[in-house]
Amino acid sequence: MITRIMTHCLERVLFDDVTITSRVAQLGREISLDYRGQGHSLLVVGVLKGAAIFMADLVRCIDLPLTIDYMAVSSYRSGTCTSGTVNVHKDLDTEIEGRHVLLVEDIVDSGLTLSYLYNLLQNRRPASLRVCVLLDKPSRRLEPFRPDYCGFEIPDVFVVGYGLDYNERFRHLPYIAVLNAKE
Ligand code: PRP
Repeated sequence: MITRIMTHCLERVLFDDVTITSRVAQLGREISLDYRGQGHSLLVVGVLKGAAIFMADLVRCIDLPLTIDYMAVSSYRSGTCTSGTVNVHKDLDTEIEGRHVLLVEDIVDSGLTLSYLYNLLQNRRPASLRVCVLLDKPSRRLEPFRPDYCGFEIPDVFVVGYGLDYNERFRHLPYIAVLNAKE
């Protein structure tokens, strides 16, 4: 019998904690300026689980009255592969009709998750709906999707850390690293 041992290690750091902190602060300033004077408080919606850490840092860099809410979604995903089917495990607690909504995600890859969520929320008739992602991997798109705010554009590499996982591991890392999966 052949026993296959899979090991996973971090190949290199793509963005260290100082770089992430600085970029998140820039995004917060940009968002604060764009929404200033809108009249109604902003609703910032984080998409669990991946966006949890980015969301927590981002909202503390937005100098505006705001409220927060979360959705929990997942795609059928095993390791580094996805089937693209989106499941909503937790919906919003908040009615968004007439609200300015900012949807926050850790990464847009195929674009399937954000396209699905964008359409879902747009159908609830918010006053406005914009999307902020920390990472954009445009080379992997299956569904056209352009975020309104983006932290970093990255090549087609599998990344973990700062909320992003591989089979639920590595989310707690304070930096973003490229995962090297060796069989
Ligand atoms: C990840 C990520 C996005 C989605 C992006 O979620 O948080 O929601 O994949 O990929 P896509 O553009 O190809 O749809 P995942 O399903 O891994 O769940 P998680 O947020 O709990 O890590």
